[in-house]
Amino acid sequence: MQNREQWGSKLGFILAASGSAVGIGNIWKFPHMAGQNGGAAFTLVYLLCILVVGLTIVVAELAIGRSTQLSPVGAFEKLAPKTNWKWVGFLGVASAFVILSFYGVVGGWILKYIFVSLTGGFDSLSNDPEAAKSLFVTFTGSTWSPILFQVLFMALCVYVIVNGVKDGIESWSKIMMPIIIILLVVLAVRGLTLEGGIDGLKFLFLPRFEDLNASAIVLALGHSFFTLSLGMGTMITYGSYLNREQNLLNSALWVLALDTAIAMLAGVAIFTTVFALGADPAGGAGLIFFILPSVFPQLAYGSIWGTLFFSLLFMAALTSAISILEVVTAYFIDQKGWSRKKATIQFGVVITIVGVFCSLSLGGGVNITGYFGGTFHHFFGETFFDVMDNLSSKYMLPIGGMFTAIFILMKWTVPSFINEIGQTIIGKEKDASLVSVLCGTAAIVVGFIILNEIIAKVTGNAIIG
Ligand code: TRP
Repeated sequence: MQNREQWGSKLGFILAASGSAVGIGNIWKFPHMAGQNGGAAFTLVYLLCILVVGLTIVVAELAIGRSTQLSPVGAFEKLAPKTNWKWVGFLGVASAFVILSFYGVVGGWILKYIFVSLTGGFDSLSNDPEAAKSLFVTFTGSTWSPILFQVLFMALCVYVIVNGVKDGIESWSKIMMPIIIILLVVLAVRGLTLEGGIDGLKFLFLPRFEDLNASAIVLALGHSFFTLSLGMGTMITYGSYLNREQNLLNSALWVLALDTAIAMLAGVAIFTTVFALGADPAGGAGLIFFILPSVFPQLAYGSIWGTLFFSLLFMAALTSAISILEVVTAYFIDQKGWSRKKATIQFGVVITIVGVFCSLSLGGGVNITGYFGGTFHHFFGETFFDVMDNLSSKYMLPIGGMFTAIFILMKWTVPSFINEIGQTIIGKEKDASLVSVLCGTAAIVVGFIILNEIIAKVTGNAIIG
């Protein structure tokens, strides 16, 4: 225990934690959600969710990790010995398996698209989103090619994690995060200087309150959670490599700021380009894989822009994926006494195998949840890929986050939590009430989202949305 690894510097930690937060969620999900749900109106709601619910749970997770110097299972066990709270930790480890299985598949797709763009493969898709779509569907639905790239992506994750906290996670994040920001700025400037690019800014940032409905608010809340990597102990694990000198609140604010800024920058880069070239901004989830590959070749040096874009997306995905794998690795190191290398390789392989089934469910011929299609239509009628995606982001993560907030309130107690934060926020007496209100709000709001989701699943009609 004395030899627990530590981050090398405050900056290193902030870049690693924001590397976890900044991922496919920021660059792919946020722009199209904001674009479709009222532009700045959505962004305002999203910012509110991040500041109230997100910040509270980020600080809570970091504090739990730093105080115990343990990953989730051990952390809950240490703060609440001989209780069932450790199951919140186990839920986190289980979520890591579920998320990384499909996240690794998407990481593989991104890797493949770097090569496609680099070798001029987008050229024939110029101004033809249908052709881009069919390239994507054919590729992801085939058997071997996506698996090959997924395995490559997962091997890179394993490589980074085997090298440890400081020499693996931190040093890679310190290289990749600045590159991500620089590339995004370059792409945003390119977009803004295209004729008509400014219209993309209007689409993204002018508030359209008529497009902001209740389901958009639920969406903003759910996303504020996913984008900050909350609810499965990622931040507990990263917090456990911190020492007492670090200012938790300040670090958490940095992570929030970077995560949000990068999501906005991605929105600017994507929509200015899409508008300038007259492509369909409502491309939704297909925006990245169908629309952009048909847009880039219309620019001068298109294959370079495409390659830069998919490279930065790849780096964002990698720094997130390693944070998910680290939760599993840290569990086997802390609780089972395994070596880092053994834990990472062994479970990297297991997760990759689960991921292969996600990939194969998209057309490769094996959809293990498809067999239940008739019986449990609502859940198991989906592809195995979608089941893993929905199971984690709609249920497991919110449940983990809700229990983290409840844990602070009911078990660890607000004074111990404030003591771990180690600083006054608005005044010694008022802090306890403020923190209680924030944790209470987070628990209730997240609890409501879960309930809403379950009711929608069971009855087919959500309370909201
Ligand atoms: N935050 C990442 C993204 O926006 C995804 C992610 C990484 C994540 N680690 C996580 C989500 C842990 C939930 C839990 O893409």
